[in-house]
Amino acid sequence: MSAVSKQAKRMTTHVLKQMKEKGEKITMLTAYDYSMAKIIDAAGIDVILVGDSASNVMAGHETTLPITLDQMIYHASSVIRAINKALVVVDLPFGTYQGNTKKALASAIRIMKESGAHSVKLEGGKSILDSVTRIVSAGVPVMGHLGLTPQSIYNFGTYTVRAKEEEEAQRLIEDAQLLEKHGCYAIVLEKIPAKLAKVVTASISIPTIGIGAGGAVDGQVLVSHDLFGITKDFNPRFLRRYMNLFEDMTNAVQSYIGDVKSGDFPNEKEQY
Ligand code: KIV
Repeated sequence: MSAVSKQAKRMTTHVLKQMKEKGEKITMLTAYDYSMAKIIDAAGIDVILVGDSASNVMAGHETTLPITLDQMIYHASSVIRAINKALVVVDLPFGTYQGNTKKALASAIRIMKESGAHSVKLEGGKSILDSVTRIVSAGVPVMGHLGLTPQSIYNFGTYTVRAKEEEEAQRLIEDAQLLEKHGCYAIVLEKIPAKLAKVVTASISIPTIGIGAGGAVDGQVLVSHDLFGITKDFNPRFLRRYMNLFEDMTNAVQSYIGDVKSGDFPNEKEQY
């Protein structure tokens, strides 16, 4: 397939906006590697997020803070090699954009140039607007992220639901409007009351993509390892597991161990 015809089938930020207008829900899942991205893209997902949750899921860190720009670029380029259709958005990791617009632009450009990704995601509202403006004006599409923003976990103290109080809820609505005004093409709303997510969604014309934000948003995102049940000790109310791969994979490994120990594997047909 030529580069041009491959491009024609791709999801774009423009199509995502049309989906909101038509009331068609947007689907988004995380992927950090080639094989997982291949499955998720071929299954028909709209957006793949190379999330900094790779720090937890792939590297076993307690928070998203340690992951580096080089590591995000490595994950993103693996994902990009797998996809045909999905729009790929990559998290700018902690420390690569906060408080320095020049650095923010340089980080976004490295991601776009070195991985071939289609857009970047930044956490925060008012405080990151200058970085959003600078990145957008360089031609890089930016997705926002409000509510529970895991890169600020040491500021929040816990991973509990955000914006339950009127003041924080009001600030979140204003932040969403500001992000739209400064050029974001979509906003992730993480772990906020469903009623608030509905108000935010109605107050902006760009799509909202929720995780733990109820059903009145324009789309949903989950960490794919949670959806597949590979992570088993993470059980928030918002999570729906579609498989229990932790158990299935454990059983498979134990069967393999048993077969090797007993001499059953490899059999006659499984050798040269
Ligand atoms: O990094 C990530 O996986 C995310 C999602 C939880 C939205 O930001």
